[in-house]
Amino acid sequence: MLILLLGVISTVSCAAVASNVVQIPLEIDNSMYTVNLLSLGLPAQSVSKIVLDTGSSDLVITHSVYDITKSTSAINTNLTFSMQYGSSDLFYVFAVNETLVGDDFKLSKFPLGYPKDDLIRDIVGYSGILGLGFRAFEALFRTSNNGKGVGYANFPQALKEQGITKSSLFSLNGQSDNPYVIFGGVDTNAYEGPLVKVPIVFIIGTNFVLDYYLYLDVTVNQVTFNNKEDKTVIANQPLAYWMDTGADSWLTTPAIYKNLYNCFQNTKLENDITWILIKELKKISITFNIAGFDVTIPLTDLIDTKNGDYASLKIDYATIGTETYQSIIPNAVYKYMYTVFDLDNGFVYLGKSSSSQRQAIKSVTNAELPVPTTTLKEYTNSYTTLYKDSLETMVASRPTSCKKKH
Ligand SMILES: *[C@@H]1O[C@H](CO)[C@@H](O)[C@H](O)[C@H]1NC(C)=O
Ligand SMILES: *[C@@H]1O[C@H](CO)[C@@H](O)[C@H](O)[C@H]1NC(C)=O
Repeated sequence: MLILLLGVISTVSCAAVASNVVQIPLEIDNSMYTVNLLSLGLPAQSVSKIVLDTGSSDLVITHSVYDITKSTSAINTNLTFSMQYGSSDLFYVFAVNETLVGDDFKLSKFPLGYPKDDLIRDIVGYSGILGLGFRAFEALFRTSNNGKGVGYANFPQALKEQGITKSSLFSLNGQSDNPYVIFGGVDTNAYEGPLVKVPIVFIIGTNFVLDYYLYLDVTVNQVTFNNKEDKTVIANQPLAYWMDTGADSWLTTPAIYKNLYNCFQNTKLENDITWILIKELKKISITFNIAGFDVTIPLTDLIDTKNGDYASLKIDYATIGTETYQSIIPNAVYKYMYTVFDLDNGFVYLGKSSSSQRQAIKSVTNAELPVPTTTLKEYTNSYTTLYKDSLETMVASRPTSCKKKH
């Protein structure tokens, strides 16, 4: 036990060698990446179980880990804002500027949302959420101009503004074994080959295209359903997918959902839920083609509940243009790829995870990454026209249709 603990600590201190970067070790807690080594205020209150979330843009801390009345450094602005996360109710927070400290950084007057209601002890099972998304998506200090770049420096930007990093870029090594995030740098040993450059895309509605970044959306050009012998294309139209590390489910469209379920051979309907034979599930994986970069997840990563030999999946659908603007990639993908988020320049970079245990961290200072990057042919086929279910190629129901070679 003690040896194991020492091993973990040495991995962490190793990272402090690279300058101008902040490395934060993560844990996978119920499929969320959580941060456990932060402290807030004076005297320091250590906070843990904070979800690393690219699908929101503020830090929110609940009463279970932080008590504002015990901190002499807390500045309560007394301004109130409303917030809501995927499966939570709407709640109200005070914007509080506070000292935030990690292993190798200290931020002063960093804004956080502190729930007004004393009873909020957690948000969907966690003690807080560290949002890393675009400024236009910030809830704290929200004004009608947020979309035009107003707002405040959230975590990656505050690290840069306060001189700790040289860039607000951050990169996620989400492998189950020792996951970590690096702010201001890239671990060049964590992936294989050149990083694939992927443009972040704008929101498209039925009669508008947003002219600023709001969601961290990329183009998924194709989705395939794979079993041992063959692959079936279940989506072949470019579609905006939210890269939300805080989403444990796959949100797709009605047409793609239908294609997917048509590919299964052993299903049963019970209590309005489609259950799939676990024995069959175990042989299936799904590949998302993100601007040419393929990332594959085993379907077992998306199991929701079990019912004897059957299981249901964390997959849902919504109609693009009316119910939603984008689909969502399930956060299971981050276990299988290295992801660099360069929000300031409007790109993410993806690489196949490597099995190397040694780190080689390079800090990033300019707009250009200090490592080789490439673009694939799908790069020029970004999401620019509204997705339509009616244009999706439909896969006929099981079993023969899903045996086609592609
Ligand atoms: C917020 O309200 C408290 C209590 O009324 C007050 O002491 C404090 O100065 C206010 N904060 C700001 C930033 O005005
Ligand atoms: C709190 O932080 C915000 C964002 O950085 C800033 O605009 C505001 O002036 C700060 N307020 C106080 C009272 O420090």
